[in-house]
Amino acid sequence: MASRRKPAARSAKTRPAPKRPLAERLPEASPALEACACVTDLEAIARQKLPKGVYDYYAGGAEDEQTVHANRDAYRHVYLRPRALVGVARVDTATTVLGIPISLPVLLAPVAYQRMADPEGEVATARAAAAAGTLMVVSTIATASIEEVASAAPAAPRWFQLYMAPEREISEHLIARAEAAGYRALCLTVDTPLLGRRERDVRNRFNPGMALANFEGDIAWMPRTQSGSSFAVGASRLLDPSLTWETIRWMRGRTKLPIIVKGVIAASDVEPAIEAGVSGIVVSNHGGRQLDGCEPTLAALPNVVEAAAGRVEVYVDGGVRRGTDVVKALALGARAVLVGRPIVWGLAAAGQAGVATALEMLRSELAMAMALCGCPTIDAIGRELVVTRFASEPFQRA
Ligand code: FNR
Repeated sequence: MASRRKPAARSAKTRPAPKRPLAERLPEASPALEACACVTDLEAIARQKLPKGVYDYYAGGAEDEQTVHANRDAYRHVYLRPRALVGVARVDTATTVLGIPISLPVLLAPVAYQRMADPEGEVATARAAAAAGTLMVVSTIATASIEEVASAAPAAPRWFQLYMAPEREISEHLIARAEAAGYRALCLTVDTPLLGRRERDVRNRFNPGMALANFEGDIAWMPRTQSGSSFAVGASRLLDPSLTWETIRWMRGRTKLPIIVKGVIAASDVEPAIEAGVSGIVVSNHGGRQLDGCEPTLAALPNVVEAAAGRVEVYVDGGVRRGTDVVKALALGARAVLVGRPIVWGLAAAGQAGVATALEMLRSELAMAMALCGCPTIDAIGRELVVTRFASEPFQRA
């Protein structure tokens, strides 16, 4: 059947947990979780369990949330052209990112403040990612420290997402800590020179009310504000609007780790990124939380892939909710996808088991989609598998 995988040459460290049917892996005493058929179902449980301000912080985006929805909608404008009678008795979802073996091309996007979803927060997420045999990107503004997340699943690969602070010594210290804790790459977020205006947080006067684990003193806490989003005021202290491509060169001089830029949309940003020495590019608009009206990521992806011309790996995130979405993104040239909100919905629904469930749902859907497309391996997923009908296509041709 589609879910059987070809044994792959992998070290014991990176070998995913033995495969068992999904039902066996779901937590025993969680009827609500068992009633979930897909990752979107997990959101309903999370919404019920979380305080409104927290749910809105996770779910929301910038201004009218046009881009939050456009990211998801873009997948509806790409259709699959499956091949018949290929022989898909064995389907293998394994691949690599920057040479690191992973059991499926789905990474965990950096998502801040995970302890608002579950007391174990990022620690639970790290364990679930490790058990699934994939890679977690840990946020600068996490609620478990760089070292705590590393020791939660020491053998698993992970990347550290960096917000570059105006005081460079703060960032230099974070880079050194991530290196020392065995993180395998740095992922600099470049779509956030300023924090996007998240109006749900403004209306809720949102304050996470918990400390950022990588910082000490005042900067770890969001300030109390009379009106508006405390989070926006506090987070802004960690962002530097003066960043340029020079910043990547500055990082290059301070770390041996590969550097990935997260938040590229324009194909014209690919050349400066490569010249500055990056190893990977994440096509991302921060899940629609930054520039509202930004082009959906799936539509931006093919242009970035073309400009990169195989010189660096290209990943994509924003709106990935289905195994078929993963196939579409890979067919358009992504090496892997990242998922953000599905992870917090799983975490809020049932902690580590909920994240494991979200990842297992994506894995089994991906294996099914690959089988139905006639693609027994990740390498078999090519451009000819999809036909695109993006709303932006007439503009691109003009
Ligand atoms: C994010 N994202 C994000 N990105 C980043 O570089 N650093 C961060 O700390 C965060 N924090 C964060 C919090 C929350 C609640 C969300 C939803 C997102 C963006 C994230 O890495 C990713 O780009 C998007 O989440 C992808 O879109 P989907 O999968 O959520 O649709």
